[in-house]
Amino acid sequence: MVGALSIYRSTIGKKAIMAVTGFIWVGFVFIHMIGNLKMYIGAHDYNVYGEFLRTVGYPLFPERTLLWIARIVIFGAVALHIWAAAALTNQARTSRPSGYKENNRAQPLYVYASRTMRWGGVIVGLFIVYHILHFTTGTLHNNFIHGDVYHNVVAGFSVWWVSLIYIVAMGALGLHLFHGVWSMFQTIGWNNSGLTNFWRLVALVFTAIVIIGNISFPLAVLVGVVAPETTTTLGM
Ligand code: HEM
Repeated sequence: MVGALSIYRSTIGKKAIMAVTGFIWVGFVFIHMIGNLKMYIGAHDYNVYGEFLRTVGYPLFPERTLLWIARIVIFGAVALHIWAAAALTNQARTSRPSGYKENNRAQPLYVYASRTMRWGGVIVGLFIVYHILHFTTGTLHNNFIHGDVYHNVVAGFSVWWVSLIYIVAMGALGLHLFHGVWSMFQTIGWNNSGLTNFWRLVALVFTAIVIIGNISFPLAVLVGVVAPETTTTLGM
């Protein structure tokens, strides 16, 4: 109990919370991107995968139990992540009320990424809300069919400005992931080993894989590589 309280109160405890909750999202975003690659195989495979996500664990567990456990973990993680970020920001403001002097010179990508963490995080948060209202509930979708994930993705990305929202959001996610993954390595202490540039490269390559994969989906729909009823033509 005392241990949990000191993690809750200390700066390093909050950084550890950010690293662990960030890691949960890094894992989720990576697996989600890999799963979405199924749309390139075709409507049938992609929809079977969507159905698997909704029903995983059934009949061993009641239907949707594992889905709800996963939802509680990832949304609990995001809530803790935001709380720890806000607490660390407040702490930094109290100890340095005048802030850092702005430097307008051109900066390397990693410096830019670190400066955009707060606003980038807000954009990523807004994107997640939009994305769920778009593809999970269908509230903000132009032509939503429950259970037909392939149709929903193709119809959704056929609207050019919707695709543009996703592509811009992936830019923000890319900067956030790049700096976040690297900060995670720092919190773990791996940057002290004289391999800072190596870990930065690992963060960059990982981020590039996730973002290029994700941006490819709206682009593939816009150029017609992923199109309605792909499975019928592929299956022939
Ligand atoms: C262009 C890239 C993406 C595509 C094509 C995509 C596609 C989808 C689809 C189709 C669903 C609904 C699945 C279903 O209900 O059966 C979904 C759900 C979801 N996506 Fe994405 N996604 C993308 C990127 C992202 C990113 C970058 C994030 C996080 C930063 C994310 C987070 C989520 C979450 C949290 C859910 C809801 C899971 C749930 O509670 O059921 N997605 N996505």
